[in-house]
Amino acid sequence: MWGGRFAEGPSAIMREINASIPFDKALWRQDIAGSLAHAAMLAKQGIVSDADAKTIQDGLAQVAAEYEKDGVPEDWDLEDIHMTTEARLAEIVGPVAGRLHTARSRNDQVATDFRLWVREALDDMDAGLAALQRALVTRAQEHAETIMPGFTHLQTAQPVTLGHHLLAYYEMIRRDRSRIADARIRLNESPLGSAALAGTGFPIDRDMTAEALGFDRPTANSLDAVSDRDFALDYLYAASTCALHLSRLAEEMIIWASQPYGFVRMPDTLSTGSSIMPQKKNPDAAELVRGHAGRVIGCQTALMITMKGLPLAYSKDMQDDKPPVFEAAGLMALSIAAMTGMVADSTFKTDRMREAAELGYATATDLADWLVTAADIPFREAHHITGAAVKLAESRGVALDELPLRDLTAIDARIDARVFDALSVDASVAARSSYGGTAPAQVRNQVKRAREQLGMD
Ligand code: ARG
Repeated sequence: MWGGRFAEGPSAIMREINASIPFDKALWRQDIAGSLAHAAMLAKQGIVSDADAKTIQDGLAQVAAEYEKDGVPEDWDLEDIHMTTEARLAEIVGPVAGRLHTARSRNDQVATDFRLWVREALDDMDAGLAALQRALVTRAQEHAETIMPGFTHLQTAQPVTLGHHLLAYYEMIRRDRSRIADARIRLNESPLGSAALAGTGFPIDRDMTAEALGFDRPTANSLDAVSDRDFALDYLYAASTCALHLSRLAEEMIIWASQPYGFVRMPDTLSTGSSIMPQKKNPDAAELVRGHAGRVIGCQTALMITMKGLPLAYSKDMQDDKPPVFEAAGLMALSIAAMTGMVADSTFKTDRMREAAELGYATATDLADWLVTAADIPFREAHHITGAAVKLAESRGVALDELPLRDLTAIDARIDARVFDALSVDASVAARSSYGGTAPAQVRNQVKRAREQLGMD
């Protein structure tokens, strides 16, 4: 393809280090689509004849059919998917194949192919996340009133509802999807026609190819277009942040499934056994989601470091853009599917959750709030009185609402029998009815909004 100025061919090492075909063959569909659009544009602009364009397009269709049936051949001498396809096209249609690369370079070609690929990856990730959101909302609706301990520092803090907890993840995924939508808008400009770096003297129509490939418009600067991989970084950032959220959910499921917690029984289909300990059911899928998040974040870091030192325009380092994106996309698809199954099919042990919420003095804040409301005591003082009550209950090994009234009034005379209404976990969650709060009524509102956002009704 470029042997004209060389006296000697590349060494075996050169061929091997240079070859991207082992991974960029994944771009074959995008490469064919880009070439078809380019050929049509060349004909419309009178840069190649209609007859030649037709020959090229038919030939490309045949190459595509071969790839579909037998896969893409991996010949290192042909370096990448672009050369592989052009070489096969030349075998099929003869020298006219050489007209396809008029007014085009592999630099704008690969930038175009890769944008098309990442666009699909964004759409796939978004569809997977919509399914995960539906699972979260369905389970949240089912458990709008299920009481569990809420934690800070992983110490029992205040009772919350399981529905509220699950909807916290709905919100994270909503932001992930908004990052994806945002990335897609910025991605959707066509580099095709930027040529090697400077544009071209041929009378091309960049709007035509942009439109044919579903882009909103051509990129504005050819130097930027061939050396920009922000769209891949945006994808990896969206993926990393999403992986981080999935990892936190996975981590919670792992903790909740442990015997001392016993909040959840994970589906058998997403668990594994032990070859030595017959009683074991291990949360391997969740652990791998947690593990995969580290790898996805690594992919993001890898590409940022690849890009950060590159002068304009194209440098071959940029060929290394694809493996981290492909790897992240595969890991994300698996992680999202695994977490969707886990949310949809886990059994929440509601008795155990309630029991845990009743331990650990989770309603201590409610006692303090009651002192403020019913006895007009400043919150800081109420906090202190409540601390004394917790200390006493703890020394007796009982819950706050198991302390006799006379012991409570001995701590502070302003306490009366009405306090017991505030000390149950049910009263505690029902009271937290501020917008976005944990009260079942609020959770049902959140479910309603979420179902609307997802078009579930
Ligand atoms: N295989 C290359 C890549 O993925 C295609 C672009 C090659 N361009 C060049 N000037 N060597 O980046």
